[in-house]
Amino acid sequence: MLRSWLFVPGDSPAKMAKALTAGADALILDLEDAVAAANKTQAREQVRDFLAAHKEECTAQLWVRINPLSTSYANEDLAIIVGAGPDGILVPKTDSGEDVRELDRRLNLLETVNGVLLGHIKIMPIATETARSVFALNTYANVSRRLVGLTWGAEDLPAAVGASRSRWDDGSFTDLCRMARSFCLAGAAMADVPAVETVYPAFRDLEGLEAYAARGRQEGFVGMLAIHPTQVPVINKIFTPTADEMAWAQRIVDVFDANPGLGVINLDGHMIDAPHLKQAQRILGFVRR
Ligand code: COA
Ligand code: MG
Repeated sequence: MLRSWLFVPGDSPAKMAKALTAGADALILDLEDAVAAANKTQAREQVRDFLAAHKEECTAQLWVRINPLSTSYANEDLAIIVGAGPDGILVPKTDSGEDVRELDRRLNLLETVNGVLLGHIKIMPIATETARSVFALNTYANVSRRLVGLTWGAEDLPAAVGASRSRWDDGSFTDLCRMARSFCLAGAAMADVPAVETVYPAFRDLEGLEAYAARGRQEGFVGMLAIHPTQVPVINKIFTPTADEMAWAQRIVDVFDANPGLGVINLDGHMIDAPHLKQAQRILGFVRR
């Protein structure tokens, strides 16, 4: 299970090197918004070289965020980086599951041409960054065997609809962002892949991050995007089941195993039935990569 996904600007070899020691489960080498147009070419080559140098020994998965499929940048990104065999592609500004199908087709061709094992490169879309995307979060089921998660973004959506902000002064999201976030959760479940929480931009506020991430986990997210190395340990902690949670989950499973005829059980004064059993099995199924 990938808990923490650390963004690193693809035109910064110093940050890419530093990110290796951050303890993230995945690094996302960014070719999109963190890289100015003038630096795109150079960034692609730096990302390719970084992948080639580190993919064997690195314990983190190495992902690349390409530019949106609707731009000519995307094909240039893919042409340079696929041969270096990244673990996955984070694709921004998808309109629907059809975009994942389209990326899957492009990867099939490029993996074949570059001698990369067919299907090796996984896909995760940032599925809430265009106006159209909000109406299509139910379209990601069965689009590609490469699909391993769904995430959402709150920075581009406001601009897409002419809004000037995504959060109010107290940090809470505007209605459109809240709706997109919830639909991302449901859309991911519908596609049977994990939902990954968006970035917490105030990277000095680790307490705020912890509270935010904890809420996200309780709402169903299984991991989270990060923008700064100090966010990684907080995210890893929150998205790892605690010993108490494991013990409680084990008791639930044990009590149902011992009482196969019972549908609902009183456990220390809590009513426990089928959905609790499902949650308990999910917690026990957590595997740290
Ligand atoms: N990955 C790797 N290293 C990072 C990093 C990241 N995402 N963010 C910061 N660092 C490094 C810095 O280079 C600095 O290294 P140094 O001590 O060797 O000089 C150290 O961590 C401390 O950084 P700090 O001074 O606290 O922050 P900063 O002002 O250098 O950087 C940001 C702030 C936001 C520019 C930076 O965190 C960043 O680039 N984040 C990722 C942005 C991104 O990719 N966005 C796209 C997705 S939303
Ligand atoms: Mg963006």
